[in-house]
Amino acid sequence: MAYTVPKLKDFSPEAVDKAAGELLSALGNESVSVKSEADKKTFRDRWLARKDGILTQINDLWLKAAPKEAKREVGQGVNKLKAEVESKVEAALAKSAAAENESSVDISLPGIRRPIGAEHPIIRTQNEIVGVFKNLGYSVAEGPVIETDYYNFEALNFPPNHPARDTQDSLFLANQESKPRREQLLLRTHTSPVQIRTMEKLTPPLRIVIPGKVHRNDPPDASHSPMFHQIEGLAVDTNITFGDLKGTLDHAMKALFGSNVKTSFRPSFFPFTEPSAEMFVSCFICGGSGKRGADPCRPCKQTGWIEILGCGMVDPNVFEFVKHNGYDPEKISGFAFGMGVDRIAMLKYGLDDLQLFFQGDVRFLQQFG
Ligand code: PHE
Repeated sequence: MAYTVPKLKDFSPEAVDKAAGELLSALGNESVSVKSEADKKTFRDRWLARKDGILTQINDLWLKAAPKEAKREVGQGVNKLKAEVESKVEAALAKSAAAENESSVDISLPGIRRPIGAEHPIIRTQNEIVGVFKNLGYSVAEGPVIETDYYNFEALNFPPNHPARDTQDSLFLANQESKPRREQLLLRTHTSPVQIRTMEKLTPPLRIVIPGKVHRNDPPDASHSPMFHQIEGLAVDTNITFGDLKGTLDHAMKALFGSNVKTSFRPSFFPFTEPSAEMFVSCFICGGSGKRGADPCRPCKQTGWIEILGCGMVDPNVFEFVKHNGYDPEKISGFAFGMGVDRIAMLKYGLDDLQLFFQGDVRFLQQFG
């Protein structure tokens, strides 16, 4: 029921006060629903209009009707109430005007721009390398960063006392002494365990690349980090030869660093490949001369060659662990390789401090936006 100004029978200050309280609470309730321009006009007129607005009615019904002896006090009460009603009406009108401004949208204003993040230079380099192999028909496989000794070492033909199996060089999880060695957990030291994990799941032929994070117990400096990134490759089929390995990697390096680069394979050792090699690319910074103008070329240490990855033919002992899934070393062969993504990204972007990648400094990262 809409509020109407009552006629007063009792003109005592208490009675006037009570009536004033009821009036103000009615005003409060009505002001809430004032929204449109039309509402505003109706609201203002109802309360303030000279002719028959509520304030005028108070004058007539309360002040003029008061008996002579009460007039003085009623007059004071009514004046106070009038001032209050006026200020409350104004406030309610102003508030609804503000709300209206807020909800109206000016579609000609420029939108709110949110800065879009950029691909991290390491992820970008990783995607680029993976892309080169995808074009050759390779699929992408992934595996866990927390790995068992079995996958990280045993099934990759690491001898029981290999130094990498020591906490000096690898980051083992704590309190596992009671577990059998093969079940002990560590942060994988390379992406090679995913070779075994994938061969357990998929039968040959197989062509995969495996990007991911790896960890080693190295203190951080300009060229070391306890966490870094690798991309592993594995190709298994009948008749895969070292020639296939060389041809594939030579193609990949030309795709990554430019068609002018040369590759060089030098004998090396890994427990899980035989024969094994380290592959170098001719320095794409100095063009292989070892010099930049009169200065020595730093990235290749003046040798004209940059070491990029380790590789080799999959050792038959590794296939023995997955023989049950079609990997009979008498019938199939394969090659594998593993490269450090962070180092390649440093070379590509001409950085001399590996730590820049991991410090999260926006001024550094923005340059790759
Ligand atoms: N896993 C080796 C490393 O981290 C690299 C590698 C991968 C070597 C595959 C040969 C074959 O050093």
